[in-house]
Amino acid sequence: MAATHARPGRRPASASDQRTVMECRDLTVHFDTPNGRISAVNGISFDLQRGECLGIVGESGSGKSQTFLAILGLLASNGHASGSVKLHGEEILNVSRRRLDAIRGEKLAIVFQDSITGLTPHKRIGEQLSEVLTQHRGLGRGAARAKVLEMLELVRIPEAEKRYRMYPHEFSGGMRQRVMVAQALLCQPDVLIADEPTTALDVTVQAQILKLFKGLADHTNTALVMITHDLGVVAGLCDEVMVMYGGRVVEHAPVDELFYAPRHPYTRGLLACMPRADRDSEELTAIPGQPPDLEALPPGCAFAPRCPYAFGRCELERPILETAQPGHLKACHLEELP
Ligand SMILES: Nc1ncnc2c1ncn2[C@@H]1O[C@H](COP(=O)(O)OP(=O)(O)O)[C@@H](O)[C@H]1O
Ligand code: SF4
Ligand SMILES: [Mg+2]
Repeated sequence: MAATHARPGRRPASASDQRTVMECRDLTVHFDTPNGRISAVNGISFDLQRGECLGIVGESGSGKSQTFLAILGLLASNGHASGSVKLHGEEILNVSRRRLDAIRGEKLAIVFQDSITGLTPHKRIGEQLSEVLTQHRGLGRGAARAKVLEMLELVRIPEAEKRYRMYPHEFSGGMRQRVMVAQALLCQPDVLIADEPTTALDVTVQAQILKLFKGLADHTNTALVMITHDLGVVAGLCDEVMVMYGGRVVEHAPVDELFYAPRHPYTRGLLACMPRADRDSEELTAIPGQPPDLEALPPGCAFAPRCPYAFGRCELERPILETAQPGHLKACHLEELP
């Protein structure tokens, strides 16, 4: 089964495959609520390789964040995860809090959309960043300071020495987001997860931060996971893209193929919604209809009520994710898109 779910076009990972950092298999997340069970993530599998960028795309509520919060052990208390997630061969799903804290300090880092919540307001930036190194890495104060300054320069924060002594509220949104990226990178994580890191920023700053991620992806060995509702964000950045709908992966392909030859109607719909230079912004479309109700997912294809190509079989039978062509997975009953 792993063969159909594994990262497309790659030989199955083995312990000797040094490039593979993370193997996620059949990850499922549900939440228990007073109204019943919510299936937020259903059987997700992927591999992450060193120095590569995987984009996770889908509308709001499609399960993007919960997938990675589960991996990081950060689900809300009514959430439950099952399946397997291995980091360098070590199972990390549902391990002890202590082990997870250690892994998060050293190997896995996440940058959220809202950078202010990740920083302590009353502490100087330099102080909070160097604590990461003095506490997790046992560095002395001088060495930590030097490393932090180096990292602030890497994320292109001008006048790093001066900024080192400033408080979070003295930074603009874009600068704070850079600080968060610097903080996440301090321990040289094997995997950096960026969850909508530019959504709160204006377009120009967004472009600068994305350029920063691109530089990191090109120049470090860190594997980058870029979570976004915006296909435009993954275009110039990611190597592969996983498209999620209703808590499932509906398409997984190399980025160019996804853009030029999508195999799933939902991906095609998302592409049609992208702003383009040759199109008036007024012509911007959204996919008509509503995302599926996760408390009552239909027995067939969850996209059927919104799919322009739906036919009889779609409402009866759920399409499984399978290889459409080498390196390209899709979950749709249609052989080819019309
Ligand atoms: N604590 C919770 N209790 C119940 N349902 C939750 C909880 N947290 C998230 N969910 C559900 O999980 C779904 C997927 O959420 P999420 O992964 O955050 O979506 P997104 O793709 O926008 O990141 C949401 O639509 C929501 O219904
Ligand atoms: S399985 Fe049917 S309803 Fe679902 S995306 Fe494919 S054609 Fe559309
Ligand atoms: Mg989210």
